[in-house]
Amino acid sequence: MAFHMVKFIEKKRDGGEHSPEEIALFIKKFTAGEIPDYQTAAWAMAVFFQGMTTEEIRHLTLEMARSGEMLDLHDVAPFIVDKHSSGGVGDKVTLALGPVVASLGLPFGKLSGRALAHTGGTLDKLESIPGLNVNLTVEQIKAQLREIGIVIAGQTKNLAPADGRLYALRDATGTVPSIPLIASSIMSKKIAGGADAIVLDVKVGTGAFMKNVQDAVKLARLMIDTGADLGKRMAAFITNMNQPLGNAVGNALEVREAIDTLRGRGPADFRNLVVALAAEMVLLADKAESRAEARSMAAAQLDNGEALEKFREVIVAQGGNPAAVDNPANLPAASFQEPLLSPKSGYLARVDALTIGSSELILGGAREKKGEPIDHAVGVVLHKKVGDRVEEGEPLMTIHANDRQRLKEAKEFLAGAYSFSDEPVAPPPLIYELVLSERKS
Ligand code: URA
Repeated sequence: MAFHMVKFIEKKRDGGEHSPEEIALFIKKFTAGEIPDYQTAAWAMAVFFQGMTTEEIRHLTLEMARSGEMLDLHDVAPFIVDKHSSGGVGDKVTLALGPVVASLGLPFGKLSGRALAHTGGTLDKLESIPGLNVNLTVEQIKAQLREIGIVIAGQTKNLAPADGRLYALRDATGTVPSIPLIASSIMSKKIAGGADAIVLDVKVGTGAFMKNVQDAVKLARLMIDTGADLGKRMAAFITNMNQPLGNAVGNALEVREAIDTLRGRGPADFRNLVVALAAEMVLLADKAESRAEARSMAAAQLDNGEALEKFREVIVAQGGNPAAVDNPANLPAASFQEPLLSPKSGYLARVDALTIGSSELILGGAREKKGEPIDHAVGVVLHKKVGDRVEEGEPLMTIHANDRQRLKEAKEFLAGAYSFSDEPVAPPPLIYELVLSERKS
């Protein structure tokens, strides 16, 4: 079949539907560098306005997944679980979730990303543990999965390369917030990653891509249906990202909070989300009869020390210093720790995730552009969340900084994260919805 990029663009511009063959040829030529960026950008904009059918999304996902290496981990584990978060502030879920499910005997294989703009990245969090290496080869990923049943590594270079190129173009052409393109981008990497069951955490709120629950449900449904059509067992949570998850925001601070949670402590919202996601993985793997049973299995792993032990094994296997688990003094710590005091008494109505996530850019704990170095020690620890009562002069948060000027700037900026109410404010829900696939896989 001959492929004409101009015709391909025009078809989408006019609201037409691409055939599977056209999509396959487009991705093949795009990956080979045979299509000028301006044409691909024009097509992405046409998709932004015209959308795509579920059929088109499924084919685009599969072709982008096939544009590079497709990991097959079944020679080391018969059934592998994975998760994906659409990105948020204080989202250290993978650090606790992986050890919980792996300690229940479910192989957990996760290829993670890095922090970008105001959202954190699991790889950066893990790298705050001295010596820990996230750059593993496929052979190392397999060996670790076989030996300890869990691996959390960086995406291999050749994982869904078409998505990497398309995402960079979308980023430069205002076409990132297209639900079909987000769904196929995320799912292509998940499909190439080789897991059998995938639980998604689609975040909604100021600190997330999705700004309302309706759009998030639409995205979640598209992703789980695409995954199910491609043979994966899928579930998706829609969760609140108007305020940070847990209390810690910042790489080493989040590792500390994850370890605390793996000791059966930690903030209730964070623990609850870890338990909910883990329970869904247990159900997808047919390891429990009911959601209630799956939840109590997951919670027990946080309380009995087995998940913490699994986290220690991950650290050792990936070359890190396990002393970080026993004593947080072995994690990087910032030189200055300063409270941000409440300017008034009242109830907290807003603790804005976007502002708090963006303060990491001021403190040096996050990056504006790919590849920039970051300071793992800096960040904030919240003492109050939405709905809490505060008195004037009480600490709202503690800021951890390594530079006085950055500390001063961050403190002024962070004051803008808070709104107060004289009337009591109900704590917001953490989980809006659980979306399950109606497709059989
Ligand atoms: N995350 C991705 O991997 N891709 C998108 O398009 C958006 C978020």
